[in-house]
Amino acid sequence: MAHEKLGGFLAVPNVQELALTWNGSGEQLPERYIRTEEAGAVESIAGSGIPVVDLGRLLDPASSAEELAVLGAACQHSGFFQLINHGVPDEVIHDIRRDITEFFKLPLEAKKVHAQLPDSVEGYGQAFVFSETQKLDWADMLYLMVRPTESRNARFWPAQPPSFTDSVDKFSAEAARVASSLLRFMAADMGLEQPERLLEMFAGQPQTMRVTYYPPCREVNKVIGLSPHSDATCLTLLLHVNEVQGLQIKKDGKWVSVDPMDGALVVNIGDILEILSNGRYKSIEHRAVMHPDKERISAAMFHQPCPNTTVGPLPELLKNGGRARYKSVDYAEYMKLFFSAKFDGLKSHFDGLRIYIVDSQASTSRGIM
Ligand code: OGA
Ligand code: NI
Repeated sequence: MAHEKLGGFLAVPNVQELALTWNGSGEQLPERYIRTEEAGAVESIAGSGIPVVDLGRLLDPASSAEELAVLGAACQHSGFFQLINHGVPDEVIHDIRRDITEFFKLPLEAKKVHAQLPDSVEGYGQAFVFSETQKLDWADMLYLMVRPTESRNARFWPAQPPSFTDSVDKFSAEAARVASSLLRFMAADMGLEQPERLLEMFAGQPQTMRVTYYPPCREVNKVIGLSPHSDATCLTLLLHVNEVQGLQIKKDGKWVSVDPMDGALVVNIGDILEILSNGRYKSIEHRAVMHPDKERISAAMFHQPCPNTTVGPLPELLKNGGRARYKSVDYAEYMKLFFSAKFDGLKSHFDGLRIYIVDSQASTSRGIM
């Protein structure tokens, strides 16, 4: 999820169009989408399964300390939580949901005006397709650089519906506010003396957004909507654009469903925050699965560090003789390694993170380096 460019993404069929004809046909599922082993191999457990954190209680001095313990436990053990009382106005959520839904309703030709270019993940299409034989996800996406505003490329931003940009702007500002608020409390939970310590690394608050459109699939046990991965970011805020369930997180080797909770945002710790916290916080592997007859749409707002940030355990956390569990690299190098790991066909973003883990015995790195 970088601002980095790279050559060689391959164009693949539009899944929304494919689903439209295929779901109503008697035809077999095209081979490149068949992932029966992956989709069916691991037991999945129903249930919302993740903690609930109340931002209102965190901000209220009377309940802050108590809720900080809830937040800390959620970040350390679960890596994912539902955030309630986040203060994002209903109207802002309503407008972005409406405009995203409208965008995907446009005819294919109108959406394709914003199609990805061969050397970039930005725009409408599918990311990370490197080979003709690679298995494909059952989803289309729109990936946008949102902040800083200079990083935007207007050609990828939907012109229809006309309020799209304004709605994203308003939601983006709210998401940035929520993320900064959370980062201050996380700094406190980590025992950092300066509450702004984590926030400093996100000055200007770089943000990207991935909107994913998962068409229905009549053979849900054969396809994956979004391949297992962890987010190569700091903090992700996920908005369910509609209320269809599909997100699953890996817990004790099993996939656990995360049900959308009315009015909540799903927050998850990304790889970078796991590294900064020296492993105190967990970046958890997750994926998305399909519904047999309902479309599902989600919007993930990724919060990234500034380009000059060092991605490595915070020195303050190593003061009392603690050992660094990850290597330190600068952010540009981190993203380069992330993309080369992807290109080398490592199974998921999560394997990318493993590159940085220092072996507990020998203090050397594991992985592909
Ligand atoms: C993502 C992501 C989950 C979902 O975009 O990184 O994990 O439910 N999305 O769409
Ligand atoms: Ni993700």
